[in-house]
Amino acid sequence: MRKAICTQLNGKYAAIPAVVACIIAVALLSGIAGSSTPQLSEGERIYTSACVACHGADGKGTSQAIAGFKQPDSFPDFTRCDQTTAEENVAYQATITYGGPYRGFSQIMPSFSKALTQQQITEVVRYLRSFCTNAHWPRGELNVPRAIATEKAYPEDEEVVTAEVNARGTPGVTNHIIHEQRFGMKNQLEVDVPLMFQDQAHTWYGGVGDTVFGVKRVLYSSLPKGSIFALQGEVQVPTGNRTRGFGSGTTTFGMFGMYDQLFRTNTFLQFQGGANLPVHTDIAPQNVFFNSSIGQSFAEDHGLGRLWSPMVEFVASRDLTTGAKTDWDVLPQMQVTLSPRQHVRADLGVRIPMTDTAHRPVQLELYFLWDWADGKITEGW
Ligand code: HEC
Repeated sequence: MRKAICTQLNGKYAAIPAVVACIIAVALLSGIAGSSTPQLSEGERIYTSACVACHGADGKGTSQAIAGFKQPDSFPDFTRCDQTTAEENVAYQATITYGGPYRGFSQIMPSFSKALTQQQITEVVRYLRSFCTNAHWPRGELNVPRAIATEKAYPEDEEVVTAEVNARGTPGVTNHIIHEQRFGMKNQLEVDVPLMFQDQAHTWYGGVGDTVFGVKRVLYSSLPKGSIFALQGEVQVPTGNRTRGFGSGTTTFGMFGMYDQLFRTNTFLQFQGGANLPVHTDIAPQNVFFNSSIGQSFAEDHGLGRLWSPMVEFVASRDLTTGAKTDWDVLPQMQVTLSPRQHVRADLGVRIPMTDTAHRPVQLELYFLWDWADGKITEGW
């Protein structure tokens, strides 16, 4: 081809300028050809040979007629940033290594543990990430394990049911039913309904507490740095019965910031600090608080399996009234994933007051959470 062009050129314009023109022409042509067929990356090469038949060259999935199977509801469209960015790379690695059923997905998704090395799987996951072209979505790795008291910065699609049981002092149980829902790229709505049950003078009373409505927004997130920062505003509505001690009797505005830091070792830190400002300060005090958590995740099966996350929280709260002291609690706990898909998890801990121990009982605290964006609660087992 190059030779043909040069012979033609040489034939038309004999002598030196023609030779120079020929060299430039060839250089230009090969330059253009080079940019139109770039070198395939290792990940793209693997994807093209092993994954395209089912997942499509565009990452959206091949039609049923060609692929020969009906796509499950959870079939990924790798171009949908809203569906893929919440997934951690290890979740993808686990599915590719051990096949769909390992994470409670369809067995149509084959295991590549024999065909590909871990390095090749890492490369193909890197290539999968290139289908989502908007880098502003917060990445799921920054969704560190939820602590009991310290709210995390990552926006969630979650249902959480918590229980706090007094281990000493007045028998009582408080449950929270928490609904968290993402909207847009960086926002989340939250509704928290407390249910309280207390033994008051040997009679059990139960009722709804003060319901909280909140909006969270991520202001900064960076996967390479392992950091995420978000702000949340809340309104606590006095739905609880004040005379029973289930409610504050006043509307309260809350505002707090959350900063989480993840390290390469899967160690994580979480910080949350803010204030609660009641409208009627004569019946409920203004209050500032600071919660923090340090933890470490360990995953079975060389980092791809069930996740155990021991954490310790340090929780501080102080009423803004004259003479008030800061209340400190320590909260050791363990979170574990229950479903193979890791979308159903439980956490059990003990809240141990360090100050004012006479008035504040030791509490057993636990929660169950279900990340409903990852599938129905009955799926993924
Ligand atoms: C025989 C068809 C087939 C082939 C080949 C195939 N997949 Fe899949 N893959 C599927 C199906 C079907 C699902 C959806 C499973 C479900 O949602 O239950 C899936 C799901 C996935 C998921 C989503 C897991 C999650 O967490 O949502 C990833 C990642 C994935 N495949 C990567 C790959 C890669 C990379 C390759 C090539 C190395 C590949 N697949 C080859 C059929 C296939």
